[in-house]
Amino acid sequence: MMIAFKVKALICQGKINHFKRHLLLATTNHRCRHTKSNSYKLLSYRPPDWASQLQMIPLVKVKLFQPFTPIHKWSLPNIPDDVDIYIKRDDMTGSVLSGNKVRKLEFLLGEALATGCQAVITCVGVQSNHCRTTAVAAKQLSQVQGVTDRFDDVILTVGSGGTAAGVAIGNFLTGSHLRVHAFAVCDTAEYFHSHINETLNSIGLGDTVRSHDIINIHEGARGLGYGISKPEELEFIKTVAQQTSILLDHTYTGKSALALTNELRKHRSKIKGSRILFLHSG
Ligand SMILES: Cc1ncc(COP(=O)(O)O)c(C=O)c1O
Repeated sequence: MMIAFKVKALICQGKINHFKRHLLLATTNHRCRHTKSNSYKLLSYRPPDWASQLQMIPLVKVKLFQPFTPIHKWSLPNIPDDVDIYIKRDDMTGSVLSGNKVRKLEFLLGEALATGCQAVITCVGVQSNHCRTTAVAAKQLSQVQGVTDRFDDVILTVGSGGTAAGVAIGNFLTGSHLRVHAFAVCDTAEYFHSHINETLNSIGLGDTVRSHDIINIHEGARGLGYGISKPEELEFIKTVAQQTSILLDHTYTGKSALALTNELRKHRSKIKGSRILFLHSG
């Protein structure tokens, strides 16, 4: 079905509670305008077999980005010799629509389109890329490769818990047996475990598995607090950019990559494998 969509993203930035942070509200239920230049394809969504028993499965989505982002070896500085780090480049999901946010926006904006919404309102943390990505995706609507190698551990950054919940639950359901580690840039490990447990309850897996069984949440990445950088963090981001040509940001991936290097050197018992995949979330 082709549908026309004119949408505005109204952005309210500020420190608000995590429950609301990533809730995308589609509002003002007017009929969509049909103009040639604003045509966009609404696709029906069928989940993969391993996800078919979940509750609350979206029925539709829109295509916003290239999901098969590259994975390549990453010579992160100060890593023990017996560890190989790879990086999954979700910073390359698109030239403007980059990062982890587009993966969920495909479903949220699909639902907004399907229900005839004309505007979306999203609430996010001050430093979140979600804000920018939603605005760009909304504007866009109004107008790889795979590596098959096995990894031992996957590392990601946790800010609100959405990405962590998605990767951990996907890993569990597909039986991939990766160890999933999330480095928190705010709040506590227990806060995020309870968020993931709520997600498990809401999709009907609450009696099957609990958050502690499917993800390790590390607290070593927060530093001085959400969005506040230490000089050594900025220095690390600069070194990584100079040595590896990978640009990390100072709120999320810079902090988690630095915490990963510290973890590997100081507390090796937590990350046991030697083939590690770091998710560059944009
Ligand atoms: C670059 C980047 N990485 C990681 C995260 C954290 O993802 P989540 O909010 O799903 O925990 C964000 C969130 O804004 C982000 O912008």
